[in-house]
Amino acid sequence: MTAADKALDKQVKVLVIGAGAMGSGIAHVAALAGHPVYLYDTRAEAIDKGIGGIAKDLAFLVEKGKLAGAERDAVLARISGITQLADAKDAGLAIEAIVENLDIKQKLFRELEALLAEDAVLASNTSSLSITAMGAALARPERLVGLHFFNPAPRMKLVEIVSGLATPRELAERMHATAKAWGKVPVHAKSTPGFIVNRVARPYYAEAQRVLAECAAEPATLDAAMREGCGFPMGPFELMDLIGHDVNFAVTNSVFDAYFGDKRFTPSLLQQELVAAGRLGRKSGHGFYSYAAGAARPAPQTEEPHEAEAAITVVGGLGVAAALIGRFEAAGIEVRRTAGAGGSDAQGWLEIGGARVALSDGRTATRRAVEEGVPNLVLFDLCLDYATTPRLTLARADQCGHGAWGAAVGTLQRAGLAVSRIDDVAGLVGLRTVAMLANEAADAVLQGIGTAADIDTAMRFGTNYPKGPLAWADQLGVAFVARVLANLREHYGEERYRVSPLIQRKTFSGAAFHE
Ligand code: NAI
Repeated sequence: MTAADKALDKQVKVLVIGAGAMGSGIAHVAALAGHPVYLYDTRAEAIDKGIGGIAKDLAFLVEKGKLAGAERDAVLARISGITQLADAKDAGLAIEAIVENLDIKQKLFRELEALLAEDAVLASNTSSLSITAMGAALARPERLVGLHFFNPAPRMKLVEIVSGLATPRELAERMHATAKAWGKVPVHAKSTPGFIVNRVARPYYAEAQRVLAECAAEPATLDAAMREGCGFPMGPFELMDLIGHDVNFAVTNSVFDAYFGDKRFTPSLLQQELVAAGRLGRKSGHGFYSYAAGAARPAPQTEEPHEAEAAITVVGGLGVAAALIGRFEAAGIEVRRTAGAGGSDAQGWLEIGGARVALSDGRTATRRAVEEGVPNLVLFDLCLDYATTPRLTLARADQCGHGAWGAAVGTLQRAGLAVSRIDDVAGLVGLRTVAMLANEAADAVLQGIGTAADIDTAMRFGTNYPKGPLAWADQLGVAFVARVLANLREHYGEERYRVSPLIQRKTFSGAAFHE
């Protein structure tokens, strides 16, 4: 073990500045890990509230049998609320979680630099400010590192260890080891707008809002596609309602501005309207959904029952969707197989009644129906696991007849799937979202913001995605993802959908993100 791998000793006192939502959570984590903790805030009532909140969280752990009563008392005894920064001059690590303002944070760090010992580490929990810019105000910027926790800090595992230009690798490694010793999942990130998570997650909100802006479906239908179909813990609209549209819109704008107006991060007019109306989500009682007393959550659009076919034909291979075949068989539907044009290629399809049913590749069904010479074309969306998904989202070509559509829907229903229909939007919603998440993640790798492994870890533990976007791209095939993106790019003619140079390169080399 090198010195850099060594976590801070448990005897090292931790000073947390700001006793709000994040600061009190970070104090909880550090004290639970065994450190003596000072909790400071300019408002005495915030300190009381913060410590009260920690006591409540710990009591909950005791109730659940996850913490002994004596241990809870010991953790609380390790936390001292202080109203003078000078009382914490023996702290070896200071983590600030105060208001998100560069000038105020710089002023605080200058004070801390004068107060604390030479070897004390200075850390910021900022979610959007540059660690490099923050350090520029210090006499010794090489003491500063970003420690970006996620809300609520005691429950969310991820910590982004953010290095500014002056942060030595050794310090980042030491904080990485410390976060790990605190029971967290740390990843290294370079100080760039949004770091890893707040940047790579942008398409999760953006693509669904694009689809909504094209009036292709209602929010509840798109949320169901992402939650039930793609396995995300919350759909994008319900998640934005929870985060608050003011906060989510501000993060999107800040990343957009910080990347000099890169079209990839263009904010949504729909969300701007919600903010303008004061419809901030759950906290204001109305967002994409209403949270008024007695308001029922709208159900996703679900097709009425249709007649099923007794037999279907699988042409070629279905690739990631192959598990659908077992569901037809389990439902007693006869499955015939024929080779596709390309032999065992994964770009096969199902023949159901008069319909051809295939996984989207980023083209609209209407265009593909013309290009493949098959008017009765029905496309389905990406799912996390076709063997278990309760719902499949479909789009049909404008040329598709009602009879063919009904046969496809009824047979999928017989196989146990609830079927939602959305309008014929390119890449439906799950596929285009996952492709754009992978595209963003690939650019972050290319730009050295994090490794592929760290970026996938960050998205799994910072946002609870069911799979890292790059691992998902590997599973789908990087060449397939590249094709989806290129089709979206061609369809919209927008810079937003440009394919990451790293995805292009891997398409040529055949290499995966995780070997
Ligand atoms: P908050 O508003 O809940 O708490 C901030 C606390 O800092 C307040 O109690 C306030 O009295 C205190 N404060 C303000 N200026 C101060 C100063 N100069 N000295 C001492 N105390 C001061 O804010 P929250 O949500 O806890 O955010 C704090 C920081 O953490 C921000 O930088 C934010 O960007 C970041 N962050 C927030 C996340 C979130 O989901 N809320 C997630 C990750 C990071």
